[in-house]
Amino acid sequence: MMEKGCVACHVVPRVRAPIARVGPSLNNMGRQAYVNGLLANTPANLIRWLMDPPAVNPRTAMPNVGLTQTEAEDIAAFLYALPDG
Ligand code: HEC
Repeated sequence: MMEKGCVACHVVPRVRAPIARVGPSLNNMGRQAYVNGLLANTPANLIRWLMDPPAVNPRTAMPNVGLTQTEAEDIAAFLYALPDG
């Protein structure tokens, strides 16, 4: 997530980086009902979002950073595994 620039826009629990507030903190993906308020929060939908946000929501401020399927799966698994809070 450091390499792909996620931390330039998001606070990511367990990843040390300057605080970024362009996008929401990613501390709640295991609990919230929707991804980007649009897609039901399932692993497949989170991966779909991570791989190409503008394809899901053409007006989103989040760019496609070119994640591979494996990278998106790993990031989704990491985000879902974070503890509450
Ligand atoms: C240029 C800034 C930027 C970058 C880089 C970026 N994002 Fe985002 N991201 C956003 C913004 C802004 C949103 C809020 C949605 C919107 O604006 O449409 C968002 C939304 C999200 C969401 C949905 C959050 C929710 O509460 O539904 C996830 C998950 C996410 N980003 C993960 C990532 C990951 C993982 C990376 C790196 C691979 C990344 N983002 C890179 C700006 C960014």
